[in-house]
Amino acid sequence: MKKIIVAIDGHSSCGKSTLANDISHACGYLYISTGSMYRAVTLYFLRHDTDIKNPEAVKKALHNIDTDLRVIDGETFTFLNGENVETEIRGMPVSNLVSQVSAIPAVRTAMVAQQRKIGENKGVVMDGRDIGTVVFPEAELKIFLTSDPNIRAIRRYRELQQKGIIAALQDVEANLTQRDHLDSTRTNSPLAKASDAVLIDNTNISREEQLAMVLALMDCRMKEG
Ligand code: DC
Repeated sequence: MKKIIVAIDGHSSCGKSTLANDISHACGYLYISTGSMYRAVTLYFLRHDTDIKNPEAVKKALHNIDTDLRVIDGETFTFLNGENVETEIRGMPVSNLVSQVSAIPAVRTAMVAQQRKIGENKGVVMDGRDIGTVVFPEAELKIFLTSDPNIRAIRRYRELQQKGIIAALQDVEANLTQRDHLDSTRTNSPLAKASDAVLIDNTNISREEQLAMVLALMDCRMKEG
């Protein structure tokens, strides 16, 4: 069976990782959450008081960072220099800084190189903000996901609650609005829909319907090639 690259981009908390996980389980594809990689770098900078305005300090820190995504019992966990940081990278301190960190050119260059290497052999579903536009502009299937902002905030709030992370709904909502603004307006690789991406608004469709739509699209793309 031919393997392809599925690139999923879209706003914060619109269910990209849920869709990517569902595709990964349905097709046996490797799932790469690029947001987790940017979050792990942000956590390292926070822990080491890295001055993100100082290019030399950033460059030095990047040399000491090894991020890695591991699947344990079917779930993906983010590791930073061998430590499982999956819960910590979802908290508000990282969420409040990650958009500034991911706008730094040196950070993007390092992450994009890793992401391209991981996707070399295809059979990958990758989610983020610039996957269809920058990381894999030649991906066979590109999805641009979106949904109603209020629904997104409530979903993220519930997700955090389930993970035992305490945050007020209004802080979660403010963080999403701010990140969407920063991510869409930055100079380097801003969040944008690739011209050949399929737009899916999942406000009023179920998880199962969304997966069925994407599996049908994958089937078409695999036959096209
Ligand atoms: O997918 P996420 O919400 O966990 O991503 C966290 C942040 O990382 C997001 O606000 C912007 C940044 N990001 C990025 O700039 N490029 C990507 N490909 C993925 C994430």
